[in-house]
Amino acid sequence: MPSIAIIGGTGVAELDGFERIAEHPVNTPYGAPSRPIQEGLLDGTKIYFLQRHGSPAAIPPHSINYRANLWALQSFDIDAIVAINAVGGISASMKTGRLLLPDQVIDYTWGREHTFDEGQDGHLLHIDFTEPYDSALRDDLLGAAAAAGIGLEPRGVHGVTQGPRLESAAEVQRMARDGCDVVGMTGMPEAALARELNIPYAAVCMVVNAAAGLGDMPLTLTSMREILQREAQVVASLLQSFLRGRA
Ligand code: HPA
Repeated sequence: MPSIAIIGGTGVAELDGFERIAEHPVNTPYGAPSRPIQEGLLDGTKIYFLQRHGSPAAIPPHSINYRANLWALQSFDIDAIVAINAVGGISASMKTGRLLLPDQVIDYTWGREHTFDEGQDGHLLHIDFTEPYDSALRDDLLGAAAAAGIGLEPRGVHGVTQGPRLESAAEVQRMARDGCDVVGMTGMPEAALARELNIPYAAVCMVVNAAAGLGDMPLTLTSMREILQREAQVVASLLQSFLRGRA
């Protein structure tokens, strides 16, 4: 049976409970992925794991080679990708510590290599991105959260900014008017590239701060990391429950 691939974000250098079996350096037509692909067991089930920011090097969101990452993952026997993203909360319900399973995305990034389509072979690739996240995979993750008693907000709009700076308060207000519930920097073009490769993809967003202008604390990486460390265990439990559901 094909395995699941997990893409970890900030603060998820290693998955809690992950036992590494092998590390696979991969070369792709787009260059090397952020890190060799880790093959291992999570709760006894084989998975492939990639830390998108690399490790120990910290590749900033705008410099990640998303194409190489997705291409490398699809070279293994995988049938879905679950991505983990740290985000800031915009809508009132997206308090620090919440988990969100977004069902929509708005892409504010620019200048990233965002497609495999270079007009090769005379084919144009206009993927259907009406529903950017795979609905069956989302249902399975929601079921896994319910089974494990983990609160997972079932839908929301994931706004993705260019970074690496955080947003201005006015930018966050504009995103709120656009309908964004959370803001992160790494959700795109990852989701679209997975769709181009026809790999079911869903994202689990961890709210690690109130977005700019909405909280009463200064935004620091240290405070975000503290929340991430706490939430990483919850995300690992969610993934374990999800893998048990597939077995
Ligand atoms: N904005 C953008 N990206 C983020 C944030 C944020 O507030 N928090 C974590 N990643």
